[in-house]
Amino acid sequence: MEHTLEFKNITMEFSGIKALSNMSFEINGGEIVALLGENGAGKSTLLKILNGDYTQTSGDYFIDGNKCFFKSPREAIEAGISIIYQERQIIDEVTVAENIFIGHLPTSKTNIIDYKKLYKDTEKIIEQFEIPIKPTDKVKDISIAHQQMVEVMKAYNRNIKIIAFDEPTASLSDKEVTALFKIINILKEKGKIILYVSHRLKEIFEICDRVIVFKDGEYVAKRDSNKTNSEELVRLMVGRDLGDIFDSYKIPKEGIGKTVIEVENLTTKHVNNASFYIREREVVGFSGLVGSGRTEVANAIFGVDKKISGIIKINGQEVNIKSVEDALSKGICMCPEDRKGQGIVPICSLKENISMISLKMLCKFGIISKKLEEKLAIDSISMLNIKTSDIHKKIMFLSGGNQQKAILSRVLAAKPNILILDEPTKGIDVGAKLEIYKIIYELAKNGMAIFLISSELPEVMGISNRIYVMQNATIVGEIDRDEASEEKILSLAMTHEK
Ligand SMILES: Nc1ncnc2c1ncn2[C@@H]1O[C@H](COP(=O)(O)OP(=O)(O)O)[C@@H](O)[C@H]1O
Ligand SMILES: [Mg+2]
Repeated sequence: MEHTLEFKNITMEFSGIKALSNMSFEINGGEIVALLGENGAGKSTLLKILNGDYTQTSGDYFIDGNKCFFKSPREAIEAGISIIYQERQIIDEVTVAENIFIGHLPTSKTNIIDYKKLYKDTEKIIEQFEIPIKPTDKVKDISIAHQQMVEVMKAYNRNIKIIAFDEPTASLSDKEVTALFKIINILKEKGKIILYVSHRLKEIFEICDRVIVFKDGEYVAKRDSNKTNSEELVRLMVGRDLGDIFDSYKIPKEGIGKTVIEVENLTTKHVNNASFYIREREVVGFSGLVGSGRTEVANAIFGVDKKISGIIKINGQEVNIKSVEDALSKGICMCPEDRKGQGIVPICSLKENISMISLKMLCKFGIISKKLEEKLAIDSISMLNIKTSDIHKKIMFLSGGNQQKAILSRVLAAKPNILILDEPTKGIDVGAKLEIYKIIYELAKNGMAIFLISSELPEVMGISNRIYVMQNATIVGEIDRDEASEEKILSLAMTHEK
C-alpha cells in the first residue's frame, strides 16, 4: 500500500503570533517533496509538529488515512517518523553501529549484546549506501555529513514511513551532497514519504518531484518540479508587505560619510575574491543563504581567518589584520551569531559580561576599578534598555533579547568604528528585534560603519543602505536600498548557481 501524509488546516500560534495558518496539503510515498519558503515561512514548525516537538494550536494530520497526534518525539519515532536536521543535536560516545541499532541491538540467548552480529549487520547497511565509515567508529569522531548519514541509516533500519530533511546540505560539500542524494533516492524507491526543506533551488530541481511553497505560514502553491522554474518559484515565495516599521530606521543618503573600510579581492580559505566597502554612518547588509560565506567574510576582516590574497584598507590605509587583537586595535568589533557558544558567559554576571573585553580601559593604576566597571554596566543598561533587576544577576537568567543587548554593550564599550553584527536578532522576540533595529540605527547615525549579516529579508532590506548578496563564497551582486526587493535578493542568492 502506498503511504500518504495529509495536513488539514494546521494552525500554530506562538504567544499570539501565527507561525502556520490553516496549512493543508497531501503527499504520497515514493516521491520527494520540497518545502520551499523564506526564513520564517513555517517549514520547520510544520516538521516539528509532525515530530511531536510542538503541539499544533488547531488542525490535524493523517498518516495513511489515520488521524495521528504525537505528544512527544518518542511517539513520532515509534510511528515511523524521522526528521534529519542540519546539525545533529547530540554528539555521543557511542559507535556508529550502536547508534543505527539503538533500541533493538541484537542479543544472544543470554541477553548479552551480540557485537559480532551488530557490526556485521551494520556493515551491510553501510555498504549498501557506500559510505566510507566503519561500524566501530565513534559517532563523535566522524564528520557532520557522515553523522547525518548515520541518522538516515538509523531511520532506514527502523523501517520508517516518513523521513524529513530540514536544510540538510547547508554545511555539506558537493561530494557529501551527492552521497546524501543517493540515500534519499534509495528511500524514495522504497516508497517512503520524503519531505525535503532547502533553499537551494538547484538541489530541489535535481532531486525533488514536487515543490510546495510556503509564505508567512500559509500554503501558496504546489508545482511539479519539471513543470516550473527558478523564476516562478522565487516569485511564489516573495511578496511580503514590509509595512512601515522600518521607515524611521533609515539614514538618508546625504548623511553617509567617507569610506571607512574598503576590501579588494579578498580571498581566504572560505572566501573567494570579495570586494566591498562600508562608509561612515552606513549600514551595509550581507544577504545570502546560510553557508554562502557571509560570516566567513566577516571572519576575514576580524582576524579570525587568514587572508590568502587581497587588500584591506581602513580609512584609506592598507592594513594587515593577523589576529582578533589586531582587528580590535583597528577599531573593528564583531558580535557573533552563536550567542550561546561564542557570546555570553552564562555563569558570569551581566556586569562581567559587559566589561569583559574592556577591562584595560577600566583600570586605574593597574587595578580594575569596580566603580568604573559598575558605571559601564549601569550606563549600558540605560542606553540599550536592558531589562534586569540587578547588574550582578547571572546573564543566563536574562531573556535572549536582553542577552543580545548585553553582548552589544560589551562590544560598544570597546568603542569600535566598524561593527560587525552576525544575525543580531536571531531567536529573539519581535519587541526586542525592533529595539535592536533602533540601536543599530542610532549607532550608524553617530558615525559607525556597520556590517550587518542577516538571513531575514525584511530586516536586511529594512535597515541597510546597500546590500551585498553572496553565493558560494562569492559576492554575486550589490543592490542599493532603493532598488532592493525580496525577489531581486533571492534571485541572486538562490539561482544561477554554478
Ligand atoms: N519556539 C518558538 N517560539 C516562538 N516563535 C517561534 C518558535 N518557533 C518558530 N517561531 C516563529 O514561527 C515562524 C516560523 O518559523 P520557522 O518554522 O522556523 O520558519 P522556517 O523554518 O520556514 O524558516 C517564525 O516567525 C518564527 O519566529
Ligand atoms: Mg527552518
